[in-house]
Amino acid sequence: MSEFQGLTAIVTGAGSGIGLATAAMLRDRGASVYGFDLNEGGMSGIATWVKCDISDDASVQEAFKKISTLDIVINNAAIGASGTIETATDEEWLKVFNINVVGIARVSRAALPLLRKSKAAAIVNTCSVAATAGIPNRAIYSATKGAVLSLTLAMATDHLKDRIRVNCVNPGTADTPWVQRLLGNASDPAAERKALEARQPMGRLVSAEEVASSICYLASPMQGSTTGTSLGVDGGLQGLRIPK
Ligand SMILES: NC(=O)c1ccc[n+]([C@@H]2O[C@H](COP(=O)([O-])OP(=O)(O)OC[C@H]3O[C@@H](n4cnc5c(N)ncnc54)[C@H](O)[C@@H]3O)[C@@H](O)[C@H]2O)c1
Repeated sequence: MSEFQGLTAIVTGAGSGIGLATAAMLRDRGASVYGFDLNEGGMSGIATWVKCDISDDASVQEAFKKISTLDIVINNAAIGASGTIETATDEEWLKVFNINVVGIARVSRAALPLLRKSKAAAIVNTCSVAATAGIPNRAIYSATKGAVLSLTLAMATDHLKDRIRVNCVNPGTADTPWVQRLLGNASDPAAERKALEARQPMGRLVSAEEVASSICYLASPMQGSTTGTSLGVDGGLQGLRIPK
């Protein structure tokens, strides 16, 4: 497949997990890929690393100086946060919203002048099943992903006139370094992994490649009529009710 031949993409958080798998898939299908990340991570040979902290507008502006043409933005970088509204501090709320939500606005805002010149402009945001399903002990994180879902719709509406499509993917629990870190902090990582797998109706975690494939689907010029949608990649977690 070479549907992205001649197109240029930015993937935020391309150093690891879903972002890395997406950068590799876009590259394999013909795109030139820039990975905006704090760290190069695993992207050497796959994407051009541009050091960027999406929580800081000056850093985003500096990163965009490296880009002269652009068709696709994958807003994927985010951080997790555990806790309830009782345990989360105001500082944590502001920190996580600044990265997970304002980070998307910041990167997309900087991309708009270039995207307006593209004939295949598309933005895909990595949202989460946490936007639409209550998950215990994830108050801040879930609220940020709810905001990403709403922001996707608002951006799709505002930039229809610019011919920029905006969509999002909603993964379930995906087998990435993020989840491996979570498991590493659990008192019984094997039991915790089993519990996460059991929560997925398919009985297994989602793979980073499955999410990447859905991101590429939404970013593809072949989906020219698809905007303002969210695509579940969650093993059925959002919609299915399986009797035990
Ligand atoms: N893994 C899951 O179970 C899961 C489920 C649903 C949604 N998601 C979403 O998928 C996306 C990617 O998650 P992942 O599991 O691949 O995570 P990951 O931790 O493996 O990768 C995240 C990447 O983002 C980068 N990053 C973090 N903060 C940044 C910043 N301020 N500026 C630039 N880069 C930054 C990190 O350096 C890292 O390379 C996130 O939006 C996450 O919310 C993940």
